[in-house]
Amino acid sequence: MLNLFDPYELSGLSLPNRMVMSPMTRTRATEDDVATDLLREYYVQRASAGLIITECTEVSDQAHGIMRAPGIQRPDQIAAWRGVTEGVHKAGGRIFLQIWHCGRVAHPEMRGGLSPVGPSPIAATGDFFLPRGRVDFPIPRQLAIDELPAIVATFAQATRNAREAGFDGVELHGANGYLQDQFLEDESNQRTDSYGGSIANRARLMLETVEAMITAWSPSRVGVRLSPSSLLYGMHDSNALETFGYVVRKLDVMRIAYLHFCEPNAKDLKTGKIQIQHVAKTFRPMTSLPIITGTGFDRNTANAVLSAGYADLVSFGVPYIANPDLVERFRSDAPLNKPDPSTFYGEGPKGYTDYPALSPTTAA
Ligand SMILES: Cc1cc2nc3c(=O)[nH]c(=O)nc-3n(C[C@H](O)[C@H](O)[C@H](O)COP(=O)(O)O)c2cc1C
Repeated sequence: MLNLFDPYELSGLSLPNRMVMSPMTRTRATEDDVATDLLREYYVQRASAGLIITECTEVSDQAHGIMRAPGIQRPDQIAAWRGVTEGVHKAGGRIFLQIWHCGRVAHPEMRGGLSPVGPSPIAATGDFFLPRGRVDFPIPRQLAIDELPAIVATFAQATRNAREAGFDGVELHGANGYLQDQFLEDESNQRTDSYGGSIANRARLMLETVEAMITAWSPSRVGVRLSPSSLLYGMHDSNALETFGYVVRKLDVMRIAYLHFCEPNAKDLKTGKIQIQHVAKTFRPMTSLPIITGTGFDRNTANAVLSAGYADLVSFGVPYIANPDLVERFRSDAPLNKPDPSTFYGEGPKGYTDYPALSPTTAA
C-alpha cells in the first residue's frame, strides 16, 4: 500500500516523500514585495517536505493584490528569492514558486490607485482587508483583448526569473478565484469575444499562460493549481465538470509536471452548491499527469487517497504553518502543534518561524 513516506519521481525531480507544503500567503515580505531573511528561514525550516510550493508571488505591478506578498519581476526580488532557494536546497529540500495575478481580487488603495482588472466588470464577493479595516471589492476594469498578450508575457518572464532565482519549477496559481480562474469560470466571465462564452474561449487565457510558461522553461518544470469546487470570492461555474475536464485534458496533452487540485472545504460543501465533491477522484481518469491533491487532509486520510490511487502526492496547508517538521511528526505519530490563525497573515516571527520542532535536529 502506498503511503506518504514513499519516494516519488516528479517529472525528473526525486522527492523523498509524498508530502507537499501547500502554497500559503503569509504577508512577511517587505512593503515593496521582496522576500526577507525571515521568509528564507521559514521555508528552510520546512525543507523536509517532499516538495515546497511557495506562497503566491506576483508577476507584475498589475498582479499585486496582497500587502507584503512577494514578487518576482524585479532584480532585487530575484536576488532575494535566490537566497531562499539556496537555503532550501542546502537543507536538502526542493521548491517551486507559485506565480500569480490577483485579477479582480484587489483594491486600488493598496495599488497606488491602480484599479483591479478582470474579465468582466463584476466584483468579487467577500471581505478585503486594508489597514483601515474591511472593505468591499470594487468593480474591476474589464481587460481589453489587446492587453492579454502582455499579461501572458509577464508569466513567461516570471518563469524565466524563477529559473534564474534557482527554483526547481513554477506553479501557475490557476485556482481560488484569481485571474486565470476568473476567465475560466462563467460566473465571473461574461465576455463575448474569443476569451468568453464557450469553454474553449474561457480556458484560453489559462492555456496560453501555461504554454508561455513551458516555452519559457520546460513542461516538466511547470505545475498548475486548479480549484474546481471553490466558491471563494464569488467563484462558480455552471458546469464545473465539463469546464475543468476540458482544461485537465488540454494540460494532459501539454505534459506539464503536475496538476495540483484543491478539494472542496467543509464550509463550501455545506452550501450544497458544490458540483464536484471528490476532485482528484473525478479527474484522475481524464489524465495521466501526476496529481497532487489537498485541503483538509491528515496523515490517515492522505494515506487513504494515495492508496486508492486518486493522487500521487498530498499537499498540507495549515498543518505546515504550525509544524515545520510535519514529515517527522507524521512518521513518528507525534502530536501536532496547534496553529494560531491570528498570526497567519501577521508580521514578524510570531506564528511564523517560532513553532517548535520535535527536536532541534528535526528542523533545519
Ligand atoms: C494563510 C493561508 C494562506 C493561503 N495562501 C494561498 C496561496 O498563496 N496560494 C494558494 O494556492 N493557496 C493558498 N492557501 C490555500 C492553501 O494552499 C490550502 O489549499 C488550504 O489551506 C487547504 O489546505 P489545508 O486544509 O491543508 O490547510 C492559503 C491558505 C492559508 C490558510
